[in-house]
Parts: sequence; C-alpha cells; structure tokens
Amino acid sequence: MYETDLIENYILNHIDDEGEYLRALYRDTNVKLLRPRMASGHLQGRLLKMLVRMIRPKNILEIGTYSGYSALCMAEGMDKDGKLYTFEINDEQEDFTRPWLEKSPYANQIEFIIGDALELVPRLDVTFDMAFVDGDKRKYNDYYDMIMPRLSTGGYIIADNTLWDGHVVEELRKNDAQTKGIMDFNHRIATDNNVEKVIIPLRDGLTIIRKK
Ligand SMILES: C[S@@+](CC[C@H](N)C(=O)[O-])C[C@H]1O[C@@H](n2cnc3c(N)ncnc32)[C@H](O)[C@@H]1O
Repeated sequence: MYETDLIENYILNHIDDEGEYLRALYRDTNVKLLRPRMASGHLQGRLLKMLVRMIRPKNILEIGTYSGYSALCMAEGMDKDGKLYTFEINDEQEDFTRPWLEKSPYANQIEFIIGDALELVPRLDVTFDMAFVDGDKRKYNDYYDMIMPRLSTGGYIIADNTLWDGHVVEELRKNDAQTKGIMDFNHRIATDNNVEKVIIPLRDGLTIIRKK
C-alpha cells in the first residue's frame, strides 16, 4: 500500500464514521452511476458537515448535487431551521438522487432542484450564508458573479476541485477549458480584496472564501 493510502486509511479510522445511510449511498453511486469519483466521500463529507456546524448557515446553496452525497453531509450539520437548496443540471440524475434525498432524515430541509443553477438561483428570493460550488469547472467565475450579491456579509463559499488534479501548476494545454476555468477562478479569488480565502489541499483542493 502507498504511504498516501495508509495515511488516508489512518485518517478515516480516526474521524467520525459517515454512517450506514451515506455508506449505502456511496456504494450505490459506485455501482449505478458514471464518474462516481465525483461524489465527495467520507473525508470531504465529514469536513463539509463540520464546516456547516461551524458556520451555522440558515440557507445553503449547492451547485452540483450529483448523487446527493455532499448535500446529505451538509444537511446533517444544519440546525433544524436550516435549508439547503441544491441544483443539478442533469435531469437524468433525478431518478437516482431524489429518492436518496427524500428518504433521508433531512428530506424536509432539502430543496432538490433540477436545472441550471446560473439560470434558476437568480429567480429565488433567498440570501445564502454558505455556498458549495461543485458544478461545471468552466463556469466557476460565473457562479462566483451570481453568488456574491446573494451571499450574506460574513458568508462563505466553499469551492471544490480548485487544484484540479494538479493541472493548475502545469502549462495550460490548448482546448483544456476546465483547467482554464479553475485557473481563472483561482486568480480571481486571489486578487479579490472583498474576500478572505484559503486553499486546503484536501482531495482535489477545496477553497474556503469568506465575504468581508
Ligand atoms: C462533481 S459533481 C457534484 C458532486 C457532489 N457535489 C458531491 O460532492 O457529492 C458535479 C455536478 O454538477 C452538475 N452541474 C454542472 N453544471 C451545473 C449547473 N450549472 N447547475 C447545476 N448543476 C450543475 C453536473 O451535472 C454534476 O452532476
């Protein structure tokens, strides 16, 4: 076993368990869906729950539900009056994900909306205290433009995949729009004085952004 795998196993054995429901969802995601690596998984899921516990957001926005793993982790950390709005652009995902969300103990706190978050979020009259950005990597700057006016002062954006498998430190290949999207976003955040920011090299890179 590689040392990184040993460390990962060690970490997983010394943090909170993800619980039977999420373990079953992760298994089902791997058995039935394409690209199951997109699901947050045990470690990142526990971190998301912990961040929600710390921030105590009333309203959370998620861009990119996929199988619902991260949504359920964030919902688990919310206070009883908290609400999570999670958007998924791929309507073929609905048959898999909706039952997992609706049969969970957090069903009444989760709004699962099929459609493009960029189009639908502006139609909601909601101010968010936290946003988890995990959609199309080419659109991260568009998500940022859309979220910032709808984010409370002192609110947080958590952006996933901001190290993009290490491609952010390689020479940009022509036609690699996803790496370009992430690089442009990282540059934008780094130079934006309206926010405080830190990148955590966890999994594929997680940027935590706080609106001043
Ligand atoms: C990495 S997966 C999300 C994984 C999930 N957040 C988790 O951690 O378990 C990204 C998802 O974002 C969806 N997506 C991409 N662009 C979107 C958009 N503009 N609005 C809503 N969903 C989008 C994709 O269809 C895909 O299912």
